[in-house]
Amino acid sequence: MAEAMTLQERKAALDAIAAEILVCTKCPLYTGRTRAVPGAGPIDAEILFIGEGPGFHEDKQGLPFVGQAGKFLEELLAGIGMNRDQVFITNVVKCRPPQNRDPLPLEVDTCTANYLYRQIDLINPKIIVTLGRYSMGLFFPKAKITAIHGKPKYEDGRYYLPLFHPAAVLRNMAVLKPQAVADFKKIPELLKEIRKKQTEDKPGSSTPPPPPSEPPKQLSLF
Ligand code: URA
Repeated sequence: MAEAMTLQERKAALDAIAAEILVCTKCPLYTGRTRAVPGAGPIDAEILFIGEGPGFHEDKQGLPFVGQAGKFLEELLAGIGMNRDQVFITNVVKCRPPQNRDPLPLEVDTCTANYLYRQIDLINPKIIVTLGRYSMGLFFPKAKITAIHGKPKYEDGRYYLPLFHPAAVLRNMAVLKPQAVADFKKIPELLKEIRKKQTEDKPGSSTPPPPPSEPPKQLSLF
């Protein structure tokens, strides 16, 4: 879908989705929200981070990952030389579940079908980074985060990288921080790899044949 649209059209369509999210009443989560949180970042972000759902601060500000977990996410990004303005950050559900409880299957299904998958189509990221169990579950059904964290899969022309949720790491820094830091280092590696892959796959980008070698010179007898 994104391929057939200009950047401006994609941005307008993404903004239109955000506007829909702000007034959404499709699942019961809207009754408890202060503000819905559509997500933030550039339309042409190469990396899309997907968390679980807004928490207390996100619900107040209408922005993703602005609390403690967000600060830590920024620290992990800084560790690979990136900042949050270079990536798109959103969540599986766009409204805060009461008392930060886990989102229910109906809430996840409604929100992803109406919003998240449309956002993914428009942003068309090279890497989708899942943060925690809920976003991992969308792309790695039945997998265990302890078994697959940091192990990317390549599918439909992009990488999917399952990572620990920053809030989970904050709860167990001694054990999980070194793993989270190591897992994050995969991001620039995958980016390099997929940029190369996509350049090679572009029609007309194959390396031109070498110029014909000079015709053999007749050996002069004189
Ligand atoms: N945790 C999440 O999963 N998402 C946020 O936006 C904030 C905290």
